[in-house]
Amino acid sequence: MDKYAVWGNPIAQSKSPQIHQIFAQQTGQDLQYVAMLGDEVKFEQQLLDFFAQGAKGCNITSPFKQRAYQLAQVYSKRALTAGACNTLKMLDNGDLYADNTDGAGLVSDLQRLTWLKPNQSILILGAGGATQGVLLPLLQAKQNIIIANRTVSKAQQLAGKFRQYGNISAVQLDEISVQHFALIINATSLGLKGQTVPINPEILRLADAVYDMQYAKRSDTPFIAWAKSLGVQNISDGFGMLVGQAAHSFALWRGVMPDVTSLIEQGIL
Ligand code: ATR
Repeated sequence: MDKYAVWGNPIAQSKSPQIHQIFAQQTGQDLQYVAMLGDEVKFEQQLLDFFAQGAKGCNITSPFKQRAYQLAQVYSKRALTAGACNTLKMLDNGDLYADNTDGAGLVSDLQRLTWLKPNQSILILGAGGATQGVLLPLLQAKQNIIIANRTVSKAQQLAGKFRQYGNISAVQLDEISVQHFALIINATSLGLKGQTVPINPEILRLADAVYDMQYAKRSDTPFIAWAKSLGVQNISDGFGMLVGQAAHSFALWRGVMPDVTSLIEQGIL
């Protein structure tokens, strides 16, 4: 049976094994997919051992996306621009292929929500790895992007790097001018600490839609709860993005794209 895994630390909370099991059943594929706890020190050796034992591919999650990227020999363009990978595939010639399906997962989910109209203005909060992973697909979807970050130099660096792909600029988190955005995406890690993002609430109130790349089981993330309390009509956490990135990884490995909508909307997980 072909073997796959998700590597991260912590990893016990991961829903990826259940998601890929559902995809495998749905598409009639015979495969095994498990959660693997990466070691902060020995991660590279663990991953090489995993593939030496015949594994076909894996997902990579926090904090190993950059370290896994370094182990590959071949890269997709979206992995190269992200500088990180969430997906590895063993090629027939023994080379490791690195891909990044996070941005495709986000774009698919925004399309499912019908929030992705071309040439609209979107605000992305945060300029870390999560933001860098999604910028190329969002610019390719013709979104005009403003990145706001506490450390404005990181937002400026990203804007400079991605300007060749579309309309993108940077601003300091507490200097965003009050204006209308079609979509505001939270890509900071503040939700993990139970916190919202310190921006002027008026900016959220004016937004057509608010998306949090994080998700919380059976509850609202702090950012989603805040947007709700301000009366934002269209809100979503990142569960659909998680399922979407998984589906794009599955398609890369197995050559068949699973149906994500039923999984997201049935609320099975
Ligand atoms: P990830 O890979 O999840 O993106 P990261 O690279 O550590 O994680 O990025 C975390 C993001 O959350 C950054 O944009 C960070 O802002 P800084 O670049 O200024 O550090 C943002 N963030 C984390 N804590 C924050 C806080 N207390 N206030 C504002 N932004 C914060």
